[in-house]
Amino acid sequence: MTKKTVTVTNNSTGKSIELPILEGTLGQPVIDIRSIHSELDMFTFDPGFMATASCKSRLTYIDGEKGQLMHGGYSIDELAEKSDFLEVCYLLLHGELPTADEKSEFDYAITHHTMVHEQINSFFRGFRRDAHPMAILCGVTGALSAFYHDSTDISDPIQRMVASRRLIAKMPTLAAMAFKYSSGQPFNYPRNSLKYAENFLHMCFAVPTEEYEINPVLASAMDKILILHADHEQNASTSTVRLAGSSGANPFACIAAGIAALWGPAHGGANEAVLDMLGEIGSTSQIPKYIERARDKNDPFRLFGFGHRVYKNFDPRAKVMREECHKVLKQLGVSNDPLLEIALELEEIALKDDYFIEKKLYPNVDFYSGIILKAMGFPTSMFTVLFAVARTVGWVSQWKEMIEDPMQRIGRPRQLYTGSAPKTYIPIDKRG
Ligand code: SDX
Repeated sequence: MTKKTVTVTNNSTGKSIELPILEGTLGQPVIDIRSIHSELDMFTFDPGFMATASCKSRLTYIDGEKGQLMHGGYSIDELAEKSDFLEVCYLLLHGELPTADEKSEFDYAITHHTMVHEQINSFFRGFRRDAHPMAILCGVTGALSAFYHDSTDISDPIQRMVASRRLIAKMPTLAAMAFKYSSGQPFNYPRNSLKYAENFLHMCFAVPTEEYEINPVLASAMDKILILHADHEQNASTSTVRLAGSSGANPFACIAAGIAALWGPAHGGANEAVLDMLGEIGSTSQIPKYIERARDKNDPFRLFGFGHRVYKNFDPRAKVMREECHKVLKQLGVSNDPLLEIALELEEIALKDDYFIEKKLYPNVDFYSGIILKAMGFPTSMFTVLFAVARTVGWVSQWKEMIEDPMQRIGRPRQLYTGSAPKTYIPIDKRG
């Protein structure tokens, strides 16, 4: 069978080259441009990587046109309905769903690594009490590299798996500690008798003065929220983790870099920005004014929770999140949440607006998550922290895959230089 290629011709020199086309299991094929520099003495140009595949990966597949998301071939809708978060973690780390024995070993291992070194508590004391929990999480996660020297040799597959499991196990503990610290309440230790999502809710909301009762509807909603945020192909924070890892940095430092990238309001910080936006809109009567602002090219305002680099259809996670939102609000007896009322009305109006239709802007995963989390009692400053707890498994799985990829090189993009042509240095007393 003839190899599929594309021909690139430099019209100014007349030189042509054949570039191989590589095809994956699903999705768009790619043009392998690795020889373009040596053969044409040129680089490709793609700010924001709008049309660039940075790696091969088997973990997650997204079809932006159809609004589909799969992990290891399993659709996110099925995983959200039939799996649990630790099983999805196993799927991402190992590439297949676990057997019953593998699942119980994995659950046991994660449950028994949830405690952090007692000295880590003192890192929290150094933060101002009004520090943003993402600032705390970013700092303390990076600090883990100072405690776990036995799992920082990235060339050792056993140490890579130990570090991955430690990060999945300890991120909820650190996140809950950041929440407790910012609210001035004492830390709670993890409980091995509780499941992952239950344990996280317990560490966040239990107080020493009374027994904390796990609400099964909230625990199930939290587990689903974690599944929905687990991994999402080569998004900004995952690409940050891969780039940091490509230099050989230890896994804790790489995940801290991912947390920093996730914080931005265009990325994981959007769930916090959605709630702030709904609060600013204030009532359904104000929605047309804000839609107008979002359409206005001269107004930097954007509708947070709408739009996506890949999805040009509904984000499948947003659909599951919307159903979960109604369940949680019903369970909590919050029938007339004004923010939910605004969100539902905003979604309806936006989806009929020709600007949003033309730009293919649909609600994304962040649109509803904030409403659920607020109803559960989390402050908006904790929303992106929860996103980081869930995405840790995606980051470590992608980081592991990158290290195990024989094609792996240090990531070092080039540029189109638009600065000054060569100049001679003029001593300061001779300058105009
Ligand atoms: C996440 O990558 C991932 O997978 C991320 C994520 C994950 O799981 O890791 O899915 C999680 O980050 C979801 C996205 C959360 N962000 C937001 O909700 C912030 C609001 N959305 C936008 O900032 C924007 O849609 C992005 C950042 C999500 C995507 O931006 P792109 O792909 O760079 O697209 P763009 O900014 O070039 O927008 C295309 C057009 C522009 O108009 P034109 O320049 O073509 O005239 O659509 C407009 C934009 O102005 N547009 C919006 C809009 N989003 C895009 N206009 C109004 N409101 C919006 N929300």
